Amino acid sequence: MKNNLPQRNPLDDIDKVLVDEASIKSRLKEMGAEINEAYAGRELAVIAIINGAIIFVADLIRELNVSIQLDCVRVQSYLDEKKPVQTPEIIDKIRLELEGLDVLIIDDILDSGNTLARVTEIFQEMNPASLKTCVLLDKKTTRDVAFEADFVGFRIPDEFVVGYGLDFAERYRQLPCIGVLRPELQNPPSWG
Ligand code: IMP
Ligand code: MG
Repeated sequence: MKNNLPQRNPLDDIDKVLVDEASIKSRLKEMGAEINEAYAGRELAVIAIINGAIIFVADLIRELNVSIQLDCVRVQSYLDEKKPVQTPEIIDKIRLELEGLDVLIIDDILDSGNTLARVTEIFQEMNPASLKTCVLLDKKTTRDVAFEADFVGFRIPDEFVVGYGLDFAERYRQLPCIGVLRPELQNPPSWG
């Protein structure tokens, strides 16, 4: 084994569940209905921002009855020496040609707004017919940039959350619920 972590269930590391599995399932049905209505009779290009949106997108698209094309982008934030904020860039380009398509960008969480503001700016340059955004979680925080998503699953308080695709150091993405880690695990001395 590469590290010295004791064998344990990652669910035991959760201090507080903010959104349980049943609530996610029923909200996804409502969101699917909203998206089906918004795009009725059209074909949609769904772009998932990975890794965080993997589980949300996998479940949400199975609630859709409109025709979709699916692609993924990977985004990385670099510290920009000239600006106090991080500048996210797409590091793995999409394969779909977005010109003339109805595009829906999906991310796990909207926090500072930097990621979605930058990604929508980049995709807008590809001349889609329309461009909207969808997030599972909207954190009530002070945004670095003014940005609101078109479809939102849950509005949550300003706490660092994991589960259902969201990670801490690439861990906990597999949890079926969304929760806050026990305080002593939020900054572990070493992950080995
Ligand atoms: P933004 O660019 O600050 O809006 O943040 C978007 C990205 O930050 C998300 O795609 C997540 O990867 C990450 N993020 C923000 N808040 C959290 C959190 O509470 N848990 C896990 N990841 C988060
Ligand atoms: Mg992410």
